[in-house]
Amino acid sequence: MRRRSQSAATEPSHIRENSRHSRKPYSPICVNPCPSVVNLPPRPRPATNLFLGFELWPRLNYNHGVPDEFASPIDASTRLCAVYGFPIRHSASPAMQNAGLAALGLNWRYLACEVAPETLRSAIEGAKNMRFVGLNLTVPHKLLAVDFVDAFDDSVKTWGAVNTVRIEGRDKNGTWLPIWQFTETQPDKIRTQGFNTDAEAVTRSLREDLGVELAGSRVLLLGAGGAGRVAALKLAAENVAELFLVNRTHSKASAVAAEIRRRHLNVKVQVGYPRGEVDVCINATSLGLSPDDPLPVDAKQFSLRQAHAVYDMIYRPAETQFLQTAKAGGSKIANGLSMLLYQGAKALEIWTGQSAPIAVMREALTKNVYGPNVSK
Ligand code: ATR
Repeated sequence: MRRRSQSAATEPSHIRENSRHSRKPYSPICVNPCPSVVNLPPRPRPATNLFLGFELWPRLNYNHGVPDEFASPIDASTRLCAVYGFPIRHSASPAMQNAGLAALGLNWRYLACEVAPETLRSAIEGAKNMRFVGLNLTVPHKLLAVDFVDAFDDSVKTWGAVNTVRIEGRDKNGTWLPIWQFTETQPDKIRTQGFNTDAEAVTRSLREDLGVELAGSRVLLLGAGGAGRVAALKLAAENVAELFLVNRTHSKASAVAAEIRRRHLNVKVQVGYPRGEVDVCINATSLGLSPDDPLPVDAKQFSLRQAHAVYDMIYRPAETQFLQTAKAGGSKIANGLSMLLYQGAKALEIWTGQSAPIAVMREALTKNVYGPNVSK
């Protein structure tokens, strides 16, 4: 994740206005050997594979199995992290993150919690009070959470949304450290620090999965919520030539467009559908998570045939109706699987201070979304 110093003038306006937050700079964490590391003996594989294919997903409930490699004993030293979302039961983050945590040899667990927007503040405070290691935030919390964390990393000042939270304690020297580093001593204060790991993830994924050359390109972006806003600002920072923003709530798209005009004079940004072709059309709305959802694009105003490449941040279902329509029309398509992977890997690094085991996490994610026999 890019960490660069930001002047107040380059911060998104909704963050500048939020004066109650600490502007204390991020203190680099010192990476001590993790006290909650345990060397677990290899476990025998059970007779049945407990991964479930994506076809079964609509029937999933809270009682489905835990893949065996995560099933090391939970004990009184186990540290917790979680993703909060609403809905959340589609999330592949627990499979991916628990595989990553196991590969790092950490006695940590990653949960998925269904948190309604009206309880987000108290749920974040709850995680803080229970000394969770950290949180991820997904639909619809990424913008809301900006108001509910105690401090921001530069990435939040730059992109204006929070998808990762690290819970930190202050030591006797006044240094903020990840909370898991306090084993022998107690912190004199605990805080939440917000980060954004989506921005780098979305552009890396567009390049790797679709081969899109962003500089000089024409892009249609659907959605101006937390994920859409970050994608729009990051695309502008990558010097796309023209950016078209469409959102159900017009005012949100207009606010993002105004932000881009202020910060990136070289980018032509407008609210509404483009005429002619675009290099890539991106869905950053939540439409498609549910099978009954309409397409996120108005077919009367824009045909997906006008897009050379089409990207959906949704990864479950692996092919939304939006992607199926685009594929049928001849566009190159990709879902949000690698965006999820890269944002999650960065979050894991922020929490642990260690390099994320990307290959392990990718494999767990792919199995979780496509089923055990598919290699992508
Ligand atoms: P996230 O933080 O994950 O981006 P979000 O901020 O709630 O979640 O954003 C969800 C996006 O999906 C928004 O662009 C939202 O449009 P609004 O800004 O108008 O709310 C869009 N979205 C959600 N439900 C929608 C629906 N039924 N029709 C059209 N757009 C929808």
